[in-house]
Amino acid sequence: MHDLAVILASRVPIVAVETHEEGRFLGLLEDMSRGAFGGDTRPLFRWTVTDGLQRLDRDLGVQAHNADPTNVLKHVRAVDEPGLYVLLDFHPYLSDPVHQRLLKDIAVQSTDGRRTVILVGHDLELPPDLERLSARFEMQLPDDNERAMLVARVVENWNQANRGNANIDQQAFDQLVSNLAGLTRGDIERLARAAVHNDGALTACDVPEVMQAKYELLNRDGLLSFEYDLAQFADIGGLRKLKHWLEQRRAVLADPPASLEPPKGLLLIGVQGCGKSLAARATAGVLGRPLLRLDFGSLYNKYHGESEKNLRGALRQAELMAPCVLWIDEIEKGLATGDGDSGTSRRVLGTFLTWLAEQAGKAFVVATANDISALPPELIRKGRFDEIFFVDLPDTRSRAEILIIQLKKRDLEPKSFDLAKLVQASDGFSGAELEQGVVAALYTAHAAGREPDTGLLLAEFMRTRPLSVVMAEKVQGLRAWAANRCVPAD
Ligand SMILES: Nc1ncnc2c1ncn2[C@@H]1O[C@H](COP(=O)(O)OP(=O)(O)OP(=O)(O)O)[C@@H](O)[C@H]1O
Ligand SMILES: [Mg+2]
Repeated sequence: MHDLAVILASRVPIVAVETHEEGRFLGLLEDMSRGAFGGDTRPLFRWTVTDGLQRLDRDLGVQAHNADPTNVLKHVRAVDEPGLYVLLDFHPYLSDPVHQRLLKDIAVQSTDGRRTVILVGHDLELPPDLERLSARFEMQLPDDNERAMLVARVVENWNQANRGNANIDQQAFDQLVSNLAGLTRGDIERLARAAVHNDGALTACDVPEVMQAKYELLNRDGLLSFEYDLAQFADIGGLRKLKHWLEQRRAVLADPPASLEPPKGLLLIGVQGCGKSLAARATAGVLGRPLLRLDFGSLYNKYHGESEKNLRGALRQAELMAPCVLWIDEIEKGLATGDGDSGTSRRVLGTFLTWLAEQAGKAFVVATANDISALPPELIRKGRFDEIFFVDLPDTRSRAEILIIQLKKRDLEPKSFDLAKLVQASDGFSGAELEQGVVAALYTAHAAGREPDTGLLLAEFMRTRPLSVVMAEKVQGLRAWAANRCVPAD
């Protein structure tokens, strides 16, 4: 309201307001005409093509006149009274040269600033001529306090309607309030109502659903996808250093102290199938944030020639979903700056790096890469990511952990297997290959009508030619490359 008062007091003749919250904007004006913020006591009029021009600050009964867009502008031009004229959804008529001229007349005549035309719509593009004569006002989205108030009011409504007390988990309440950032009041109320009114409770399990609904509200271009499948540290075998690192960042992200810069994110480089994607899912699970996946590959395929613009759109959207985890899988595919490139990927890289530096504290980025030869050096320079981890093949201890996790996942009792033998027989296996072994043993056992046991698993492992053998040189190369550029994840 303060900002609006400043604009009106500056007496610009035309104010353009782009908003989805028309009712609320009118409410602000009405409050102001009643004296709020020093008050703009000029008579307040509202125009729509359906109801014509009506005075709002004083009830003069129905006056459906000047519904015609040309007539209303002629009327405003002719009156010699001060006034605020709010034209709702006038934008379709702005393309008419007569209307442009009339608005210009009004603007030019109104040097004393007594009449102000306020154009309100959700998508307002003014002709350049008029743009120069006008100011833009943007409705602020609700801040933390206001969002808390809105959610509390939804709860209050439920209590009244049901003559009871909704069961509110304070932590879920706080998380909801923080997660609803970036939405309009209407959307916040709608999502909060959906969460509370279905069962009269607000608990941790409402949060993911609300985030999904929020994502659907925001996702207009489809470059980002919402990932439902999150993981926890308990789902990952090994990767101890990575877990420890994330654990330390978790506290900082939850409650950022002024003395520390908020972490931007991490880059995971490593051998295929060793848990990079899994670690990305676990990051979201552990931080208690929604996970958004940005598909860099389709940036080029889908939107030829508009990659940068679309990337910017997707990144802005990720910010609106903040706090979130933004997972960029196979980042090298989107940023490879090979020959024959028209410079697009270079610009995309620039856009991404600038954003990464500026958005710190909003989205936490987890980028993964397999192919180091395609990684642009700018990306791995110090200070881009907070840390670059190398995810190597699991050692014996980690293989044991992975086997236990994979067996339990399929309701098998790890204690009934000879883990030492299995670990020994699976040297050079990736996590994915260990998992495949367990799955294959289950199939064999099922076909034979028996329970899987150590013998069956060993047989499967013998049959497997792990990638580390098939592609020994490549894995070696990767390790050598990582040795002085990355921190081991395990
Ligand atoms: N450290 C691990 N702990 C538990 N399970 C693992 C681990 N590593 C891999 N797995 C199993 O293997 C599957 C595949 O791993 P994941 O997709 O995370 O590998 P990746 O490193 O992303 O591979 P890629 O380079 O092919 O994308 C996982 O879903 C999980 O079931
Ligand atoms: Mg992966």
